[in-house]
Amino acid sequence: MHTIEGVNFQLSEEHLAVRDAARDFAQNDLLPGVIERDIQTKFPKEEIKKMGELGFMGMMIDPQYGGSGMDTLSYVLAMEEICKVDASAGVAMSVNNSLVCYGLNQYGTEEQKQKYLKPLASGQIIGAFCLSEPEAGSDATSQKTTAEDMGDHYLVNGTKNWITNGETSSVCLVMAQTHVELKHKGINCLIIEKGQDGFVVGKKEDKMGIRASDTHSLMFSDVKVPKENRIGPEGFGFKFAMTTLNGGRIGIAAQALGIAAGAFELSVKYTKERKAFGKTISEHQAIQFKLADMKTKIEAARLLVYKAARDKDAGLDYVESAAMAKLFASEVAMWVTTEAVQIHGGYGYVREFHVERMMRDAKITQIYEGTSEIQRMVIAREILK
Ligand code: CAA
Repeated sequence: MHTIEGVNFQLSEEHLAVRDAARDFAQNDLLPGVIERDIQTKFPKEEIKKMGELGFMGMMIDPQYGGSGMDTLSYVLAMEEICKVDASAGVAMSVNNSLVCYGLNQYGTEEQKQKYLKPLASGQIIGAFCLSEPEAGSDATSQKTTAEDMGDHYLVNGTKNWITNGETSSVCLVMAQTHVELKHKGINCLIIEKGQDGFVVGKKEDKMGIRASDTHSLMFSDVKVPKENRIGPEGFGFKFAMTTLNGGRIGIAAQALGIAAGAFELSVKYTKERKAFGKTISEHQAIQFKLADMKTKIEAARLLVYKAARDKDAGLDYVESAAMAKLFASEVAMWVTTEAVQIHGGYGYVREFHVERMMRDAKITQIYEGTSEIQRMVIAREILK
């Protein structure tokens, strides 16, 4: 049951401190090299390391497992500030926090938490979440990667596609089919470490946007995975992926919100500087109306994103609110960044002014962690169930 009553959007001193710390880091450390990294498709390795030191890589994990012990709203506030500047760093942060760390924290054994969650949440290493395959994107139950039960271990074979943190991750959470006859109830999630025999990282994808993020296919050929590396009971893998993605969608919604808000801030600044027809373009009503629409949509997206975070923090069902936040915020990000390029005119079409990158980056938020069409499907099912 979702309720808007009682949702408190008042930010505490701690929330404001997290937001300010993320903003300072984004402006001081991410901004200087963001254009170069986009051009060179260079992963922000040093910057991500620093994000770990600042506590941004395991924000919602208890300090006993290496995290910062904060709530989802803090995570969303930090994601927004990071993604105002660098959505590539943002996705590495989001996958590590809300898919890998959350999944291990929620469903992992004590041994798995000690061995994997601690270094992941403290940012010493980063992780990847491996669900998508060449023929299983939206249709995620159609897993072709297999995890054959060999008694004391699984033997994994198959290919995963479009994996964020594909090369830089040390630990991967891999969904694989053990009992085909049980369909999605025969899928397991296995923790697989890099460097194992038969585990090969494929070529880096040459992407339209988030070009500095590290996206690869991963190939598994007779990779031996001990049974103790399975998360949850036998056949829990698909449920694991779905419940983890519910929270992941809040992270991507916050990323989309950040991209939109970043493009908006740059646009406001530009309209006060750029002159046309004898006055700044901010004095032209055509531009004023664009700014008004941009701000209104961003504010509406922000409310949905904060509400989804609040639902999760309050222990309420957040399947629908997360899907609504991601659907709306990603569509707003695409629309706002396109308008931002339009406001900047010719300058908006060149790299130096950032907004063309933001427009390219916005597109992926409508695709990964469930396309806009999948979010509509999730929302409709919640309405009609
Ligand atoms: N939360 C919890 N459980 C869910 C769920 C959700 N949001 N959606 C589905 N499930 C459960 C169902 O309850 C069902 O479980 P039971 O059999 O126990 O009842 C099971 O999953 C199968 O669901 P359906 O019968 O509804 O299966 P379907 O094939 O009709 O639909 C789907 C499933 C919702 C379309 C699902 O495949 C889906 O979400 N697809 C999108 C996948 C996705 O988001 N991929 C993102 C890749 S990861 C990524 O992008 C990370 C990155 O690197 C940035």
